[in-house]
This record gives sequence, C-alpha cells and structure tokens, in this order.
Amino acid sequence: MSYSSGIYGTKRFSSDRTGRSTRVISVTSGKGGVGKSTVVANLAVEFEKRGQRVLLFDGDLGMANLDVMFQVKPKFSVQNVISGDVELKDILVEISPSMSLIPGGSGLFELQKLPVHAKQTLLDQVSDLGTIFDVMLIDTAPGIADNVLYLNSAAQEIVVLLTPDPSSLTDAYALIKVLHQRQRETKFSVVCNQVRDEADGQKVFERLQSVAARFLPVTLSYRGAIPSDPHLRQCTRGQEIICRSVPHAESARALSKLTEVLLENGQEQSLEVECKGSLQFFWKQLIGAA
Ligand SMILES: Nc1ncnc2c1ncn2[C@@H]1O[C@H](COP(=O)(O)OP(=O)(O)O)[C@@H](O)[C@H]1O
Ligand SMILES: [Mg+2]
Repeated sequence: MSYSSGIYGTKRFSSDRTGRSTRVISVTSGKGGVGKSTVVANLAVEFEKRGQRVLLFDGDLGMANLDVMFQVKPKFSVQNVISGDVELKDILVEISPSMSLIPGGSGLFELQKLPVHAKQTLLDQVSDLGTIFDVMLIDTAPGIADNVLYLNSAAQEIVVLLTPDPSSLTDAYALIKVLHQRQRETKFSVVCNQVRDEADGQKVFERLQSVAARFLPVTLSYRGAIPSDPHLRQCTRGQEIICRSVPHAESARALSKLTEVLLENGQEQSLEVECKGSLQFFWKQLIGAA
C-alpha cells in the first residue's frame, strides 16, 4: 500500500492536449455485485494499454472498491476539497504514470451546497485536470439514489451493466426508467456480464431491449458481453486485475474487445455535436452549476 496525496505538477503530465476534452463514461447498475468495479478497473487497464491517460472516479460511497483493487490507499476525498483543506489535484491518487484515481467519498452529497465562489474555484481546478486525461471512468453505487443519478447524467456515455439474473434485468430497467424520467436521459449503452456465452449475452440484452422499447422512448446500444469466468473471481480474491495478470483469459479478452468498441464509439461521438462530455461538464453537473 502506498499513500498518495497528489500527482499534479509532475512533469510527465505537462499538457500537450489543451482544448481536447476528456471523455466521461459511467458504469452503473440497478443491482449491486454485478461487476461494476471489476469492469471499470479492467477497462482502465485496457484503455491505458492503448495509450490513453485514464482518470478513475470512485463514486460508490462507503464501499472499498477501486482503491482496494489497485492496492492504493487514498489519503483525501472530495470531502477535503469541499472543506477547503486541499485542491482537487491533491486528492488524486496515482495508480500508474498514466492512471489516477479520484476518491469520491461522502462529500459528493455536499457539492451542490457549495457557495457560488467555491464552485467557481473548483471548476477552475477542473479545467487544469481536463488537459491531462483522455478518458474518465466512473464507478457508481448501484441503484437510483440521487447521487448515482447525478453521476450518470453528468457522463457522456452511460454503460448499464447487468447479468442474466432476472432481478438484475428488472433493476436495470428501473434504473433506465428513472434516469429517463428524472434526468431526461435517452441513450444508454448496455453490457451483459457473467454470461454463459455470446448468445446468452445477446439474449439478456434483447430481453431488456424488448421491455424498454415497449414502455420508454430510449435507445439502448448493445456493447457486448463478458463471460462468467472462474479466473476472474480468483483474481478478485487475490486483489489482481485480470487484464493485467491473465490477459488471455476469456473474460480478459472480452474486456479488451469491449474497450475497442468503446473507443470506436467514442470516435463516432466526437464527430457528432455533443453537448455532454468533458470534465468541465461533468463537474458542473455534479455541483449544480450547469
Ligand atoms: N465476468 C465475471 N466472472 C466471474 N466473476 C465475476 C465476473 N464479474 C464480476 N465477478 C465477481 O463478482 C463479484 C462482484 O464484482 P464487483 O465488481 O465488486 O461488483 P460491483 O462493483 O458491481 O458491486 C466479485 O467477486 C467479482 O470477482
Ligand atoms: Mg463496486
């Protein structure tokens, strides 16, 4: 375990990409234990392998998640930024030279209550960060609590993760419904985890798609499936990330393929005129300054 209190200011992050925005992707689910943190951690590793600079945002309050998986011990959280102890850059924990983690912590609830000048100060700090990361991956808590909805609607792409378990399907539908009704979200990406095979994943997606199409004016895009893999479970137990330690395992290959799909989709998105996206947009939404 290594303590870290900030990485900003190190020379390797001196920006060469001012003006380009950070792509923000949330991974969310209606139900807990479907594999959000696992998927986020492995996507981070795969994005990094492809030369992307990755910022992880741990939004699962009170749960030992990404920090445990990457074996880092955050010293601060968003709470310390709110109380004015430190700046945003100081709470970043370096995982590798091109990967860092923002520990969300319980402070997320209080961002909306900041006075206007403090919000502006925070946004100024965000614009500095935006120039050094290509992608931000958000690990949310499960369910439909307000902070989960905010985190998701602040993201450019919402990836809903579900498993073949019937209750996972109904909970995923409920989450999509609430995100549509309360946050006016209309586009969702869907990934099926812990499936038997490709066909199983496709079937799970089609089930969700058919219910959603009947009741909601939303578009669901299937991004792929990850097989249920005992190697992966074993890696979790040993605090290892499968895409790092067993990259040829079936689940690791599926996660690598998913990364390719998300990257391709991102290129398409940047061709469209997108009002969402960028770290600045994300934080504005989160603090209620949008
Ligand atoms: N594709 C998979 N195959 C086997 N086990 C998996 C798979 N995805 C996740 N798991 C296991 O499920 C458990 C919950 O995963 P986790 O990522 O912590 O879920 P969440 O963050 O959604 O609560 C972990 O023990 C993890 O190893
Ligand atoms: Mg988790």
